[in-house]
Amino acid sequence: MTVNVKDYAYKVTAAGRVNIIGEHIDYCGGKVFPAALAFKNTVYIRPNGTDKINLSWTTLDEKVTLDIAKLGDYKSLKYGNYQAGSLLMWKNAGNPVVGCDMVQDCTVPFGSGLSSSAAIEVSTIAAMCALTGVPVDPVGIAVEAQRAEREYCGVNCGIMDQYASACGKAGHAMLLDCATLACEYVPIDTGDCSLVIIDCKKPHSLVESKYNERRAETETALRLLQKKLNINSLAELDGRSLEECGSLLPHNVYNRARHVVDECARVADAAKAMKSGDMVKLGALLNASHASLKDLYEVTGKELDALAAAAQSHPACLGSRMTGGGFGGCTVSLVRTSGVEDFKAHVLEKYFEATGYTAAVYQTQIGDGITVEKI
Ligand code: GLA
Repeated sequence: MTVNVKDYAYKVTAAGRVNIIGEHIDYCGGKVFPAALAFKNTVYIRPNGTDKINLSWTTLDEKVTLDIAKLGDYKSLKYGNYQAGSLLMWKNAGNPVVGCDMVQDCTVPFGSGLSSSAAIEVSTIAAMCALTGVPVDPVGIAVEAQRAEREYCGVNCGIMDQYASACGKAGHAMLLDCATLACEYVPIDTGDCSLVIIDCKKPHSLVESKYNERRAETETALRLLQKKLNINSLAELDGRSLEECGSLLPHNVYNRARHVVDECARVADAAKAMKSGDMVKLGALLNASHASLKDLYEVTGKELDALAAAAQSHPACLGSRMTGGGFGGCTVSLVRTSGVEDFKAHVLEKYFEATGYTAAVYQTQIGDGITVEKI
């Protein structure tokens, strides 16, 4: 449907995100380095004086009505479950949720690993804040949105996606400490290079269960290591202690912990490289991150590996890695801007040869987190 904007009270947006580096360490208390995208979910909202929330979409024919008293009942909806879950968490946290009409307009490609779900959750709560006069607190909203993803949608995720979606800043990456939620904004200054995001377009399957399994393995690693080490999270672990206590861990659990330790170090190095404009270094870190996610964390799969390899084989590419949860979704590559067009053609061709899938290159910018506009 098309939106007659002047019929609505507020236009509220929240962003998708790309993670530059720092994968699968947010739930281990690590620092991550994501950025919000100009791909976003926009919610147009107006009060309707009922106890119902009417949802519609610009890009879908669907219409869904949520009963505010029964927000817990919509977990199995194909569309509307994220909205129901985030508003339920928001309400349970003691905030007002009132009857309204919401039109959702999402430009984050679904299933791309660029956090369309976080954008929907965060913008839905922010829209409810706007309508009910509750001051928008991006961090508080991110926390409730994450709770929705975990407790309502069944993905035991960290805070990275919802935080980036809510708190992002155009032109900046975020060095986010997931243990404290302290965030340093770092200008994305890639000099003569560009970040290129490419979707492997593999249909997702079993992503949630494999994601939850990885998280559980890191929890096992922590529990076993705590028998010998005084640490509160895997992010506090250093490489030497891991070597010394490695025999406490089953092989696959050891590999997961090794990834976490190394990836935490790579994030620190990547932030330094970005600040000093060392793109060669940043690129090398992206490649190392992908290799670790492939071999130690085992969350890439044939398609993401083929896509990253195709990217890495182009002379203008300084580095490439999967971004997001994995098992499908996108890669992010650092590419000399003068070679970007040739790079894209090369990657699409090589990737198709390797997998039979046609990848999609996304054009977007680094955008803002939550925005609220009174109409
Ligand atoms: C998903 C989760 C995040 C994070 C990444 C992996 O996007 O939602 O919390 O764990 O995977 O880095």
